[in-house]
Amino acid sequence: MVSRDAWVLEALCSMLRRRNLLTTILIALPWALLLTLWHQYPTTHYLSLLRKETDENVTSKALLNGTSALREGSLPSCIRQQQSTGATPRVIQSYVYSRPPPWSDTLPTIFVITPTYTRPVQKAELTRLANTFLHVQNLHWVVVEDSPRRTNLVSNLLEKAGLNFTHLNVETPKSLKLGLSWIPSHTPRGTLQRNLGLHWLRDSFSNTAPPEGVVYFADDDNTYSLELFEEMRYTRRVSVWPVAFVGGLRYESPKVSPAGKVVGWKTVFDPNRPFAIDMAGFAISIKLILEKPQASFKLEGVKGGYQETSLLKDLVTMDGLEPKAANCTKVLVWHTRTERPTLVNEGKRGFTDPRVEV
Ligand SMILES: *[C@@H]1O[C@H](CO)[C@@H](O)[C@H](O)[C@H]1NC(C)=O
Ligand SMILES: *[C@@H]1O[C@H](CO)[C@@H](O)[C@H](O)[C@H]1NC(C)=O
Ligand SMILES: *[C@@H]1O[C@H](CO)[C@@H](O)[C@H](O)[C@H]1NC(C)=O
Ligand SMILES: *[C@@H]1O[C@H](CO)[C@@H](O)[C@H](O)[C@H]1NC(C)=O
Repeated sequence: MVSRDAWVLEALCSMLRRRNLLTTILIALPWALLLTLWHQYPTTHYLSLLRKETDENVTSKALLNGTSALREGSLPSCIRQQQSTGATPRVIQSYVYSRPPPWSDTLPTIFVITPTYTRPVQKAELTRLANTFLHVQNLHWVVVEDSPRRTNLVSNLLEKAGLNFTHLNVETPKSLKLGLSWIPSHTPRGTLQRNLGLHWLRDSFSNTAPPEGVVYFADDDNTYSLELFEEMRYTRRVSVWPVAFVGGLRYESPKVSPAGKVVGWKTVFDPNRPFAIDMAGFAISIKLILEKPQASFKLEGVKGGYQETSLLKDLVTMDGLEPKAANCTKVLVWHTRTERPTLVNEGKRGFTDPRVEV
């Protein structure tokens, strides 16, 4: 059996050796032909040839009428531009996307106060936030920079976003930053900026004829579900809900009794704080902000984790909190963190182009 197999194998090998050249040619030739054809007419080329005419018509329509392009589900302009290689490159004069839903005179306004500071990822964070807010009706964005002046980067971003906004700035004094920075939980990042936002609201609206609306503190790195804004919109005094990824937990939440009352806090870190809640976990009616002009975030003598309490204790008691997000059973906001990019010294390597704003 074995010898027979060996004989067959040897015969096959010698045949193969003799026909080696012929076989190689027979196998290689069709493939070579196929590959040549493939390279000359890649499928994308066929597709773009097919699409070219339709696309051109869609593009010209899109530029005339912003909404039609979205409804027809066409590709974004820049992709279309790449596909029509060979034709004269199209210069995109205006981008095609829809603006926020129209302002309503009957819906309460959501005033979102966002403290922000200059860092490599700032523009990315604010862009992401603006894109979220563009889906929310009657939203006014109060952006407060921690800087000696309003920066061009933030100004340009806000001008282009298409949102209702107010752009403010206040620099956190070096003494506050340095004096306390070795105790991380005491660093009052954002505190002066949030207070300036509250100050602007009290300056802009009168207590005698308060607008319908709610105030929310939204840091620029968190992730916000659109449902969250509709949950908070009809806050009577102070509304609360769970926040994911804080205090070392998957989520922190107010404890809600079967009767639908907030009775405590599901947290690991100091659950006996009067308001053991994250900055992203509550909203305050603008009426209440105007009624209590003294209420603000305290800068001095505030223990770590008590920043939220320093404001809320002047506005409300636990009894008066309104649980939202299905009695605090839904997570609608996530305390996400953007990784700090590792950057090489680009200047030295000649990569820096002053015209490019990142
Ligand atoms: C594109 O528009 C041109 C002229 O406006 C028209 O002749 C052509 O039929 C259109 N093509 C398609 C695919 O709609
Ligand atoms: C844009 O499209 C909408 C809906 O298709 C239409 O009502 C409107 O008149 C169009 N506007 C222009 C300028 O063509
Ligand atoms: C901004 O708010 C005012 C009312 O405060 C409203 O009339 C206007 O349409 C809003 N603009 C945008 C872009 O939403
Ligand atoms: C919250 O709980 C209260 C009391 O049990 C109940 O009446 C109410 O319908 C609940 N709300 C939601 C949105 O589930």
